[in-house]
Amino acid sequence: MPRKVNYGLDYDDDYDDNYDEYDYRYEVDENETPSQKETIKHSVWRCSICTYDNDETMSSCDICGVLHGPLLNNSIYDKKRTANIFDLKSSRVSSTVVGRDEAVKVSSMRSDSSNLSTEKGKHNRLDEINILKNIEVGPPAGSRTSDNCSASVPEGWLDHVDESSVAVNLQSSVKRSLSLMPKERNVMVDDSSSSRNGGEANSLTSNLENISFAAKSGHSNDANPGRANSRAQYKPEKWMLPEKAEHSLTQLNLAIVGHVDSGKSTLSGRLLHLLGRISQKEMHKYEKEAKLQGKGSFAYAWALDESAEERERGITMTVAVAYFDSKRYHVVVLDSPGHKDFVPNMITGATQADASILVIDASIGSFEAGMDGTKGQTREHAQLIRSFGVDQLIVAVNKMDAVDYSKERFDLIISQLGTFLRSCGFKDSSVSWIPLSAVENQNLVSAPSNFRLSWYHGPNLLDAIDSFQPPTREFSKPLIMPICDVIKSPSQGQVSACGKLEAGAVRSGSKVLVMPSATIATVRSLERDSQACPIGRAGDNIAVSLNGIDGNHVMAGGVLCHPDFPIAFAKHLELKVLVLDGATPILIGSQLEFHIHHAKEAARVARISSLLDSKTGKVAKKAPRCILAKQSAVVEVILQEAICVEEFSKCKVLGRVFLRTLGRTVAVGIVTRIVEEQ
Ligand code: GTP
Ligand code: MG
Repeated sequence: MPRKVNYGLDYDDDYDDNYDEYDYRYEVDENETPSQKETIKHSVWRCSICTYDNDETMSSCDICGVLHGPLLNNSIYDKKRTANIFDLKSSRVSSTVVGRDEAVKVSSMRSDSSNLSTEKGKHNRLDEINILKNIEVGPPAGSRTSDNCSASVPEGWLDHVDESSVAVNLQSSVKRSLSLMPKERNVMVDDSSSSRNGGEANSLTSNLENISFAAKSGHSNDANPGRANSRAQYKPEKWMLPEKAEHSLTQLNLAIVGHVDSGKSTLSGRLLHLLGRISQKEMHKYEKEAKLQGKGSFAYAWALDESAEERERGITMTVAVAYFDSKRYHVVVLDSPGHKDFVPNMITGATQADASILVIDASIGSFEAGMDGTKGQTREHAQLIRSFGVDQLIVAVNKMDAVDYSKERFDLIISQLGTFLRSCGFKDSSVSWIPLSAVENQNLVSAPSNFRLSWYHGPNLLDAIDSFQPPTREFSKPLIMPICDVIKSPSQGQVSACGKLEAGAVRSGSKVLVMPSATIATVRSLERDSQACPIGRAGDNIAVSLNGIDGNHVMAGGVLCHPDFPIAFAKHLELKVLVLDGATPILIGSQLEFHIHHAKEAARVARISSLLDSKTGKVAKKAPRCILAKQSAVVEVILQEAICVEEFSKCKVLGRVFLRTLGRTVAVGIVTRIVEEQ
């Protein structure tokens, strides 16, 4: 039933340890922060990231969640610790498109990792004249690699940048070189069922006038020539805005995350079954098949884990998408993989989330394993979703049956994990804790029937989902749809781009600019939740069937945008990053895996411009050699291939990045400047 978000696996065993040549000594140069004293008021502390003045009683920034504390601990870094250079494997299989059926229906397609084919570095040069001809309106678009982490690092700081503070000063005359056609990603089609989904729930904070990343970066050269139109100038047409009564249920994209085997898929399957999305007959079938394979306990998970490999291994590998309706929401369930090898897949699914359920295995030893700094995924998932902008969280303390529904166990989990979540920037008031058992159906959609849970008087899981605040949508902004899947039917000459509409709206007949090929296409039809739909608006997960474009020019990692408001395509970027607690230091020359919306690319740290002071957010040291755990810094990275990107201040979803190495997220960040466009 559910479609799978399909992302290439990412095994990173090829790397070199060649950091010994670096000197890890790092000292903050006090002399370089002359204004620091002036900016610290007596009873407040200033956030290093957003410069908001917080009351001294606050342990983390009220605006962006950054922890208050000495990030620059002027330590001499442990020389024994070696950083490793990640080498992105260029082993993506060459692209083949297999049409199984002549008339492929978008909604009835599914892809999984086994039949995904990608090719890295395959470039088709586009005829520049054609491109210029095609663009009719406007100018061409110019956790730690943990050792022994005891504390954790905030991530909410990525959300809060004042949009208005970034000066838009683009010139229209310079033509972009649009000759690059990055990696292709063709999805083999298949005829199982279901479709795809997707939110961005954060409003920008108004009082961050000091953060003008583009302006502050100290570079005056305009990196975005050719992209003349400011998104602020955009005026939406009437049909693009939802009428009040039009959608009775707001769509809520809900990422189910957590450590491997915590019961995410079982919980999702159980919910879908209880809410009538999986029939009794289907359920019997799953039970029978699972039993036959000796995996009886995975019957509910099988509703989400569809591929033979997932069922065989008993783990989720790609993000499964399913739907149900609660009282308030049309919920899009994004069941993520918990296994560490599939964190990149988790990222691509959860990046679309408006809210999240963090599933915890309450069993003795299992909760602890999830919290483990080296192998556990609970912390990394929590950090990642916070940095995706998710600030509303349900912690589903699952498998309570395995601990006899013990209140003490539940309280212990709250106390240990609660501290960690606070340090990630989650506010207590935005986190609900629900003890439950997916297998024994306790506390999912109704009050627990088991007397051993009689100590619990809070909401059940479904009620907690209904208590989420509705996400904010960017209806009045120009179209942005990062493409997470491409479905092709070569025999029919059809191509559909799937993803979540982050901003704006489309309907059949709309002209869209497909990036990075910079080709204009016309929307033929749209589907949402496997149904044809007339209009797609911000927040919707849709499949957009396109006319007038070569299928090779539509690729996952690309973006559909408004022809007058092209997004950038670049490989040289300035970032503001925060290195996670316990992570390997980032050095000049570090090779990292760079993640941004649905794209992933190998990146090299070309420059560390400055370290930022934890208290003032100002430059603490210019041109340091490395960034240690818990430090934030401005860096420049050069990617192996250009990607579709925007400055975070202009478009959050296209400007939020994750840096990973050795299978761990080492830093989260935002794009502060596009140094050079392609
Ligand atoms: P990944 O996607 O691979 O990370 O795993 P998951 O989190 O989706 O876990 P899954 O749903 O596959 O379940 C893993 C195992 O936990 C299965 O054997 C389930 O039967 C078991 N399980 C899930 N929920 C419960 C529960 O409430 N109680 C008990 N005792 N076992 C459970
Ligand atoms: Mg699973």
